[in-house]
Amino acid sequence: MYEDRIRLARLRDKVMSAHDAASLFENGMTVGMSGFTRAGDCKAVPLALAERARHEPLQITLMTGASLGNDIDKVLSEANAISRRMPFQSDATLRRKINHGEVMFLDQHLSETVEQLRSGQLPPVDIAVIEATAITETGAIIPTTSVGNSASFAILARKVIVEINLKMPLGLEGLHDIFIPTYRPYRQPIPLISPEQRIGVPHIAIDPSKIAAIVITEKADSPSNVLPPDEETNAIAGHLDEFLRHEVKSSRLSPALQPLQSGIGTISNAVLHGFIDSPFQKLKMYSEVLQDSAIELIDSGKLEFASASSITLSRDTYDRVLANIEQYKPRLVLRPQEVSNHPEITRRLGLITINTALECDIYGNINSTHVGGTHMMNGIGGSGDFARNAHLSVFVTKSTARYGAISSIVPMVTHVDHTEHDVDVIVTEHGLADLRGLAPRERAVQIIRHCVDPAYRPALQDYFHEACRHGGHTPHLLQQAFAWHTRYQQTGSML
Ligand code: COA
Repeated sequence: MYEDRIRLARLRDKVMSAHDAASLFENGMTVGMSGFTRAGDCKAVPLALAERARHEPLQITLMTGASLGNDIDKVLSEANAISRRMPFQSDATLRRKINHGEVMFLDQHLSETVEQLRSGQLPPVDIAVIEATAITETGAIIPTTSVGNSASFAILARKVIVEINLKMPLGLEGLHDIFIPTYRPYRQPIPLISPEQRIGVPHIAIDPSKIAAIVITEKADSPSNVLPPDEETNAIAGHLDEFLRHEVKSSRLSPALQPLQSGIGTISNAVLHGFIDSPFQKLKMYSEVLQDSAIELIDSGKLEFASASSITLSRDTYDRVLANIEQYKPRLVLRPQEVSNHPEITRRLGLITINTALECDIYGNINSTHVGGTHMMNGIGGSGDFARNAHLSVFVTKSTARYGAISSIVPMVTHVDHTEHDVDVIVTEHGLADLRGLAPRERAVQIIRHCVDPAYRPALQDYFHEACRHGGHTPHLLQQAFAWHTRYQQTGSML
């Protein structure tokens, strides 16, 4: 039974239904589940857990790599099965519960969760639930379309439940590079000096006696929900392309640029998609998630190699990549997220990072997470891991949201995820502000001139001039700084 998927024969009698595996959970447990941006999540055990929670008091602290697909956060939230959640999510139902204060959400830098786990700063993982392509002869786990935090969850947990997904081709074996940093106080440098380098092993090595259950599934990852490029995202891509061409012409970058990181979401995907028609060659990515644009860049011959922690694709691209995994494997590697997002490596490789802002202010502070300063959208994800340590930190956003009722460039952001110190370039469909080497008053001039929607530009100019009259290194009018946001709350428009 499943000889090619459960190669350590003595584990085969651990195969059971998801319903039976769910009986291993107890109220109040901390559970670490695989899954990163909808890829490689467990597809059966969480649903069986939710079913139990509908009939008895059963709430867990749920840790994952990042967001989950297959409505798992939704179903668990509806069943009231989650009391605490970390480090990232993107589900509407869970978001509502977080914003009602019913679920305590820890919005963490994605590289940090397992560091805090192994040093005892977070409660220990009782059970890890990990999706796998197969279990090796030694009982090691071969992940599927993401690595995320799975390796450390499985290593640190008391018990491990493995979901073997028959939909995942055996050819995924060899795609992963599992490296666990040496534990403190004996920490050594992570010996990675180029995106394509492999520094670990292709599986998660654990004590097989910890495997308490194996559940067989046959369900695909959820397709990504990014929208295709539109006129505005194409314009953003065009401005960034022009800027990077100028950097190459000025010999600050080579035609291969620097390794690229690109955040999740519609805008980042579209920006990267724009590189297909660029003059840049022999590109490499060192990112946390690969979207359709990365595969298109590989297919076009522009992208030589991509390192990440997960692959999150639209349905057609997903089917094509899995069907032809042997063709893509030499150009891809999936790593634990503490390695894909490690600040040490970001700085060493000199990444060009492209992340998305919800809103930014005239000095270049970025809010990526909190709508109106209070309501959680998704979480900071890896953007902080990368932006703080980038060679060139780019933030992109459309200049307005909600059909022009919101300006994404405001006098003062209502929540700060990335301070002005971590932001080199801001791009909207109207243009690009190059903030390098500029003081706050100079940054404001560039941002207002190049990035703001024309409907909001005069008001922002007035705000800045009046603030400058009052003085300061970073001039503000404190009584008016959030007037745009309160106007939106009261009238439905910032105008
Ligand atoms: N105020 C309020 N809402 C805003 C807004 C603003 N200033 N700017 C955008 N929005 C809303 C949009 O209206 C849209 O809402 P909808 O889903 O109800 O239509 C939503 O935010 C998403 O905006 P969109 O323009 O479609 O961008 P996106 O899909 O690229 O997502 C982020 C943008 C910021 C939400 C997303 O990139 C994110 O969560 N980033 C943080 C994590 C991160 O950067 N990770 C990087 C490493 S993966």
